[in-house]
Amino acid sequence: MDEHVGEQRWWQGAVLYQVYVRSFRDSDGDGYGDLRGIIERLDYLAWLGVDGIWLSPTMPSPDQDWGYDVSGYLSVHRGLGTMEDLDALIAGAGARGLRVLLDLVPNHTSTAHPWFIDAASGRDSAHRRYYVWADPAPDGGPPSNWLSATGGSAWAWHEPTGQYYLHGFLPSQADLNWREPAVHAEFDKILRFWFDRGVAGFRIDVAQGLYKDAELRDDPPAQDANWLDTRFGLRQVYSANRPESHGVFRDWRRIADDYVPPRLLLGETWVGDFGALAGFYGHDDELQLAFNFPFLFAPFTARGLSDVVSQTLAALPDRACPVWTASNHDVGRLATHWCWGDQRKIRLALLVLATLPGTTVLYYGDEIGMTNVEVPPELQRDTMRGPESARDRGRTPMQWDSSRSGGFTRDGVTPWLPLGDTASCNVAGQRDHRSSVLSLCRGLLRLRREQLGGLPGYELLHADDRLWAYRAGTLTVTANFSDQLASSPVQVGEVLLSTELAQPDDQVLRPWEGVVATSSGAAEAGPGCR
Ligand code: GLC
Ligand code: MG
Repeated sequence: MDEHVGEQRWWQGAVLYQVYVRSFRDSDGDGYGDLRGIIERLDYLAWLGVDGIWLSPTMPSPDQDWGYDVSGYLSVHRGLGTMEDLDALIAGAGARGLRVLLDLVPNHTSTAHPWFIDAASGRDSAHRRYYVWADPAPDGGPPSNWLSATGGSAWAWHEPTGQYYLHGFLPSQADLNWREPAVHAEFDKILRFWFDRGVAGFRIDVAQGLYKDAELRDDPPAQDANWLDTRFGLRQVYSANRPESHGVFRDWRRIADDYVPPRLLLGETWVGDFGALAGFYGHDDELQLAFNFPFLFAPFTARGLSDVVSQTLAALPDRACPVWTASNHDVGRLATHWCWGDQRKIRLALLVLATLPGTTVLYYGDEIGMTNVEVPPELQRDTMRGPESARDRGRTPMQWDSSRSGGFTRDGVTPWLPLGDTASCNVAGQRDHRSSVLSLCRGLLRLRREQLGGLPGYELLHADDRLWAYRAGTLTVTANFSDQLASSPVQVGEVLLSTELAQPDDQVLRPWEGVVATSSGAAEAGPGCR
């Protein structure tokens, strides 16, 4: 790789912003957010100061899993807009210096995809091998003990052709067979198609899932495995996490690096083991970024977060860029699961996210401290899990203003999911207030842009039950994760920003206060962050 390519790693130090398209902004008054709606808010995103946006799935889909059941990879979902809209979005974003990532779903397709329809038409069909088919076990039951994300068997019986097909998620999401070369060829084409249109990269859905065990061996009991690597009591050793998937990422990386600037591959790498997480980066020849789920699920404590950061940086290979995120459309919002709506904690969480070296990914609404919204069962739209754990709570419409529609859609239109408390939390109400979460977030992103580009080092200065202090590049961050006043565990230079509104004090941290200050010397380049 030449120097030139290195310089173009715009994502190092960047902030990405996940737009759950259906919930961001509805431009046509049908109650669903759409691509034109995002175009209407590009000025806002530029004002906020993010570097790029990742759009939840935009491809045609019957929406059994809201776009994660793709029925066509080379076009745009009619309900969200047209190809012209997407081109206009990419162009409009580009004019503001924003990159656009799409969501790519390579683990499975909708059973409504023409490939599956053909595959299901007969054992000799042209696309039969695109999917994972298997004969029943000797007792007539499913070929292995593998479980789907709904908790039942991952195998669905297909009576017309007398075999089971595999579905790691809903029965309407059939797993692709990555042992079939034609599947590789299809996806190479899909990547190039979108890269040619100016898409800056992909978030890759279920990146740990692609290859399955060739012999379909049973997954072993979870025992003491990290829960992230398990599913309903089984460790996903054979149904996912197979080493062959890395070959796919190496191929895709070569394609991504063919472009100027190189295209970005950001994996949804749902693993609990830091070694496995590091593996997705390969030798700087696989994914450039991999989501860090141990961080997202870490307890919101000084030690909890600090431990995960240290373990991540120790595990990642040279030149690998860590990724920090705390909310998404599956797990819900940081303002709830980390902060339980406490404004002080929300402010501190944003400060941490904005000051860790690497790439930070915010979820729409994080910047105003949007919390999860309890969606009553009759209004729920997510069928993957039972009503208790439906993911809708983290997918409710963006709260733009305090009007009845929240500024999400037209007045009088019922949004596809109910709005949260728009009166107390919305963009318009926070935008011009110095003391708002939004102003803090914007200030943090500005500071990050000015001071934490590229891959500055990270150095742990202090972590105990209440306090965390670290150096990030030239900055020193001190954070009090407790309800008590605390004296700063380290000396800092000039205070640049604090989560507290009152005049910050460089020696005393108020409850849940985080402070960013200058430090006397820059940190040595840290592990994983060179
Ligand atoms: C990923 C997506 C999730 C989806 C699943 C199946 O985990 O983030 O929303 O349900 O994959 O595609
Ligand atoms: Mg709409």
